[in-house]
Amino acid sequence: MSEFLRFYGSHQIIPVHQDITDFGDHLARRRWLYRTLGVNRLAFRGASVLEIGPGTGDNGLVYPYLGVSKVTFIEGNAASVATVRDKNAQGLYGDVPVEIVESDFNAVDGLSGAFDIVICEGVIPGQDDPARSVRKVLDFATPGGVVVMTATCYTSMLAEILRRAMRFWQCGTGDPFEEQTAKLARFFAPDLAGLPGMKRLPADWVLDNIQFPFPRNMVFPLQNHLKAVGEDAVVLGTSPSMTVDWRWYKQIDRASEARNDRAAAALALLQPHLIDYRIDAFSPRIGAVTDEIEALAEDVFHAHFDAWSVDGNRDQGIRKVCDLAGRINALIEMEFPQTSKAIKAYRRCFSNPSNPDFRALDDGFREWFGRGQQYIALEKV
Ligand SMILES: C[S@@+](CC[C@H](N)C(=O)[O-])C[C@H]1O[C@@H](n2cnc3c(N)ncnc32)[C@H](O)[C@@H]1O
Repeated sequence: MSEFLRFYGSHQIIPVHQDITDFGDHLARRRWLYRTLGVNRLAFRGASVLEIGPGTGDNGLVYPYLGVSKVTFIEGNAASVATVRDKNAQGLYGDVPVEIVESDFNAVDGLSGAFDIVICEGVIPGQDDPARSVRKVLDFATPGGVVVMTATCYTSMLAEILRRAMRFWQCGTGDPFEEQTAKLARFFAPDLAGLPGMKRLPADWVLDNIQFPFPRNMVFPLQNHLKAVGEDAVVLGTSPSMTVDWRWYKQIDRASEARNDRAAAALALLQPHLIDYRIDAFSPRIGAVTDEIEALAEDVFHAHFDAWSVDGNRDQGIRKVCDLAGRINALIEMEFPQTSKAIKAYRRCFSNPSNPDFRALDDGFREWFGRGQQYIALEKV
């Protein structure tokens, strides 16, 4: 059972509610996402769709507008299953026939090759064996069908990991869980209020990003998706859009048809740009330190659990986190000045861990978010 199912199930929560009061905007965002991934509108028309881990089921509300022929949801959290069933009973999926399978998707048999399109969003990183789960997701698709999944890397999660490290400065380890969540939501509300396109409720964001005891395999980069599918699927696109392949189509023969190696190289070159959603220009030199940044960000990930320790090691943990963040700053300072300003503000905040100055965060840290989760679309061969 994945850590998601353990955590969501034990608190009976679905911490992924979005504000979709303007449904037209929601529909436009979903269409934009699919188009960016290389999945055009006609791909959905008449398609059989499988959505794995629908959460609230809100993303699926667009299926009637995309003209899909039927949808199957596989969901392992009882609270989510009840919500999706309820939406279906209310007719919110229109005329689209809906099937809901309550199960861990890794354990579902008998649906091999059954779907034209498989959507699996916010699910793969955090599974017990993400590479195996990627193979399982691909197995549900028919040859020529499309699979959409999400990825994370340590670099893209750095800003959130630094926020997580502050958790027990903002709430007591012994506070009831709901009280912890409320205190953290108040503390991070100004950060979230400044994030353009933020559709999640602050308390849900806190539950999913701060309170959730991220398992060690919470990170599974785009490149690992490509490695996991091998030659059984070909990349169509990513969001953010990060694949580059300069070859002329007449250069292509059957032996060189695959695009995944080219895509993996481009993804590695661009990965440092995931550190901050505000970066919108390509910095060619930063690709030389992709691995160094990712390795240091991984060390921050492991160290942030020390800053959660309930004994006297909390200050030592945050010192280590700040030291590693300083080393990342030295690598990105020239290329990404806004990110550098944010890291410096964080380090100033904790210059004396026994008496942190949280006002220092207002000077550049609070606005900083990474490109947390990335999308990839693949065509099954
Ligand atoms: C982070 S939420 C994402 C929800 C939604 N896809 C979205 O993007 O807003 C992950 C969802 O996947 C479900 N989930 C996670 N692991 C699962 C598994 N192994 N089998 C079935 N459902 C799973 C969770 O219960 C939850 O509904």
